[in-house]
Amino acid sequence: MVVAPCSPPVTHLQIFPVEAGHHPPLPLLSSDDPALIASELAARGIGYERWPARAELAPAAAPEQILAAYAAEIARVQASGTYPTVDAIRLTPDHPDRAALRQKFLAEHTHSEDEVRFFVEGRGLFCLHIGAEVLQVLCETDDFLRVPAGTRHWFDMGSAPHFSAIRFFDNPEGWVAQFTGDAIAERYPLLA
Ligand SMILES: [Fe+2]
Repeated sequence: MVVAPCSPPVTHLQIFPVEAGHHPPLPLLSSDDPALIASELAARGIGYERWPARAELAPAAAPEQILAAYAAEIARVQASGTYPTVDAIRLTPDHPDRAALRQKFLAEHTHSEDEVRFFVEGRGLFCLHIGAEVLQVLCETDDFLRVPAGTRHWFDMGSAPHFSAIRFFDNPEGWVAQFTGDAIAERYPLLA
């Protein structure tokens, strides 16, 4: 039997206009090009990097193994002193609270500190409402994203969440979602 190779996960960026009543919205830009994604995000103050994969890391590695494997990159991010706290989390499709956890961040919100994530495995959809645009960044394994404090955004982990992520914090107690009350997220695609 011949088994077709799986296509590797591809980071995807879509930029939509903010338009009330245009349902579903049509993207202004849709790209899988890592260089273009990085430059479009940088132009809007969003940090984006691709970190080299750690082949030695098992798919279900423990948090301490993940943090050890990416120690060099973590040290580089923490060198500025902005993010003294770091941890690693894992969400699986059978998580008993997956529906509630998904719902929690599906509505537009802000934080009083940066939201900084590195996807060790799996994927998640970050949606950023910046000015008159909505940027949807489908983050895949090896993607690092830094969303500045105060940025209106929402996040979809999907109905069967599967990701491990390193999280950088300014202050863990301060990482609280302030919901804007804007139903904008309902007009844009969710994680397929
Ligand atoms: Fe958030």
